[in-house]
Amino acid sequence: MTLGSALLRLIALAALFGFLFGFDEGIIAGALPFISTTFTVTPASEGLMTAAVPLGAVLGVVLAAVYSDRLGRRRVLMLCALVFVAGSILSGAADGMEMLTLSRLLLGIAIGASSMAAPMFLAELAPPAVRGAVVSAFQLMITVGILISYLVSLGLAPFEQWRVMLALGMVPAAVALVGILRSPESPRWLVLRGRDDEARATIAKLEPTRAPVDIEHLVKEIRANIAHTPDAARWGAFLAPRVLPVVVFAMVLFFLQQLSGINAVIYYAPKIMSEAGLPGVHAQLFATVGIGTLNVAMTIVAMMVVDRMGRRPLLIGGFVGAAASLAFIAYTFATPENDSIIALAGLVAYIAFFAVSLGPLPWLYMSELFPIRLKTRGMALAACANWAMNFLVVFLFPVVLAGAGAAVTFGIFAAFCAFGVVFAYLMAPETKGVSLEEIERTLEAPVG
Ligand code: BGC
Repeated sequence: MTLGSALLRLIALAALFGFLFGFDEGIIAGALPFISTTFTVTPASEGLMTAAVPLGAVLGVVLAAVYSDRLGRRRVLMLCALVFVAGSILSGAADGMEMLTLSRLLLGIAIGASSMAAPMFLAELAPPAVRGAVVSAFQLMITVGILISYLVSLGLAPFEQWRVMLALGMVPAAVALVGILRSPESPRWLVLRGRDDEARATIAKLEPTRAPVDIEHLVKEIRANIAHTPDAARWGAFLAPRVLPVVVFAMVLFFLQQLSGINAVIYYAPKIMSEAGLPGVHAQLFATVGIGTLNVAMTIVAMMVVDRMGRRPLLIGGFVGAAASLAFIAYTFATPENDSIIALAGLVAYIAFFAVSLGPLPWLYMSELFPIRLKTRGMALAACANWAMNFLVVFLFPVVLAGAGAAVTFGIFAAFCAFGVVFAYLMAPETKGVSLEEIERTLEAPVG
């Protein structure tokens, strides 16, 4: 299926928010050593500054939940872009740890809000046949953002330019701001606000090959779904028998995504490699860039297979592969004569399985499964689960590693993935190729 150029531009734009997410998340790893030579950094102030992003993100999700329905997806993303610009400039210009922490908190708010609003915008714009690939473009750009941040850190490290590293984030943020100012609003939100004519015009522009009668049918379907969903104003609506399984599924899936240990690897890759016995900071940094590249490459594979193979087999297979690779890593750490190359091979396998499955699928499901009137709050619950667990894992990893050792730590991650296999087998629905409206209609039986 070919996508119109207007639609492609919008997809690229929303994906740019994924890039900002990954870049601002990854850049701190490279900047940190140099920040500590400029300011007095205590373990507490370092911890607080690192935690500021996931903490800000939880707040950002809540704000986006309140305003995505009221202001629209587009205006929320516009505000996010503005905050990304401000946060990047302020963090580059910080005169102390307090200002740095506050500006990282601001960036966290923008990351959190856009981590909800951008996939929502993408899923609402994409035609069903390619929705999996389109929403995965968001995840792809997270991984590209992480990789570019690793490369920027590597390139600027000899000059110790941490301010430039942090401030560079304002370039993609400014591009996103210009882009969103010129983009249309999501047609589904327009219908939600009773602006059906604008919705028809937007769909016609985004999908020029869609017949007018088809557009009319789509608008009617969106309207019908809005009418039969319980009132979103009440949180109790989430306890309705047809909605609760979706909430539980989306939240637990994000818990498991984070408990698979991905951000322990993303934030602490060089540390893990030195733990595995890989000698020299340079070799560790290069291997880190290698991990980042593989993360990007396998996310591209995910985009190619997700609409063909389907979500369910990919998720189950991803958990099986991740559990096996993590168990293997744990085993190599447990054997005293562990070889760094063998542990590295396990890490490579884990990243590959994560990127092809556990990375993109929770975001995709989250954007597909909630009925439109509950979408904002439902996605907020799911995204909060992601960020809260992200915070916990990143915060606790060094502590557990120091206290219990690498073998136990990776064994715990493996156990969560093994639980994920059973969970995905019992709970994961298949949504490949089905329109959001049809998914909503079959919500009564979302399992298997
Ligand atoms: C996760 C992030 C993670 C990234 C790595 C995303 O799906 O939500 O926490 O850093 O994948 O690629």
